[in-house]
Amino acid sequence: MPPARKEIQKKGGCRKTLSPPLSIGALAIPIPFVLAPMAGYTDSTFRALCRACGCGLVFTEIISAAGIVFRNPRTLAYLHSVPEERPLAVQIYDASPAILTEAAQVIESIGRFDLLDINCGCPVPKIMRKGGGAALMNDPEKIYRIVKSVSEAISLPVTVKTRIGLSPEHAGISEVAQAVEEGGASALFLHARFASVGHSGPADWEAVERIAGERTIPVIGNGGVTTGSAAIELLRRAGIAGVMIGRGAIGNPWIFEEAAHLSAGRIYTPPTAKERSEMIAQHLRSLYTVMEKEDVRRKRSRRRTEPATCHRFRGHLVKYLHGVAKARSGKRLLALESIESILFAVDEILQVTSQNQDCNAKMKTAQS
Ligand SMILES: Cc1cc2nc3c(=O)[nH]c(=O)nc-3n(C[C@H](O)[C@H](O)[C@H](O)COP(=O)(O)O)c2cc1C
Repeated sequence: MPPARKEIQKKGGCRKTLSPPLSIGALAIPIPFVLAPMAGYTDSTFRALCRACGCGLVFTEIISAAGIVFRNPRTLAYLHSVPEERPLAVQIYDASPAILTEAAQVIESIGRFDLLDINCGCPVPKIMRKGGGAALMNDPEKIYRIVKSVSEAISLPVTVKTRIGLSPEHAGISEVAQAVEEGGASALFLHARFASVGHSGPADWEAVERIAGERTIPVIGNGGVTTGSAAIELLRRAGIAGVMIGRGAIGNPWIFEEAAHLSAGRIYTPPTAKERSEMIAQHLRSLYTVMEKEDVRRKRSRRRTEPATCHRFRGHLVKYLHGVAKARSGKRLLALESIESILFAVDEILQVTSQNQDCNAKMKTAQS
């Protein structure tokens, strides 16, 4: 159990929720708030922290099905997980039904995953050029064949994450959602933006609501959720079975705690500067432990483990300190390559020793 869990449970426990549970096939998820897959962010360490904060289901980042089938060591490293993360979804991509099916069987045989998701929404050119990700939206019949082949080959629930369309001119999401359901998927994760806009611009939750109304499988909406109260509002919309949160959780894993507290009718208190500092320390140290183990496993020199950990943590650190660190001190912080020096600087920025209340107020404003 990561130390954060004890802390968070002490803070008030966020396991009970009045929001209806989410059922995906045989998988019962008591809390209908899900951490979105995010390449470079949703590694095992961050997933475990989000689960400890009350997130109902977490996702790996997108993983190459071909890399799994051909046992590429770099690809297999993305499958690292710890028991505290479960329920855990793994997301794979490819354009070939045969490769996706074989990868799904490998994943099931590992026995550490609870759900298999097929990416049909990634707009990254490297993936689309090979016919995977969002390119599959051009061919709902192929999506049908993929989902059917994969769901018949494994007993884990199979889901699809996709977009509301390739672009406003090429929407076609109704046909895609129909293919997903008829192929035998247990749920649809729907990012409420077109693939053409990447991750920017407003999310169209009306489109999610419309698709949820057309389908019988659960539809979990995603896009633009940055507060726990917004997640709860969206969950009240007709037919929406769950809310998936992406960037809103980076630097703020407490968003799940907030959503769970509010949906249980409890008052939510944001983390203090000290709790924020503790979370940063725990996140960074756990990440180091995982990266060190991986270096040992792959017989790599451990001389670079610590700087590499600090480097990898930068995206999270920027978000944890968003609205508090001044540009100059923030820049200096990102250049540091030792864990203790980062944590010392973080405490200085957060003024943890004096429990500065101004800092907490600033944090609240930055996140609202
Ligand atoms: C840095 C980053 C990496 C992402 N990686 C993935 C991925 O691996 N698989 C995927 O399906 N979506 C990926 N996404 C999309 C997110 O899962 C999510 O759909 C998107 O960020 C919208 O949600 P948000 O507005 O709550 O952030 C990524 C998004 C970001 C910002």
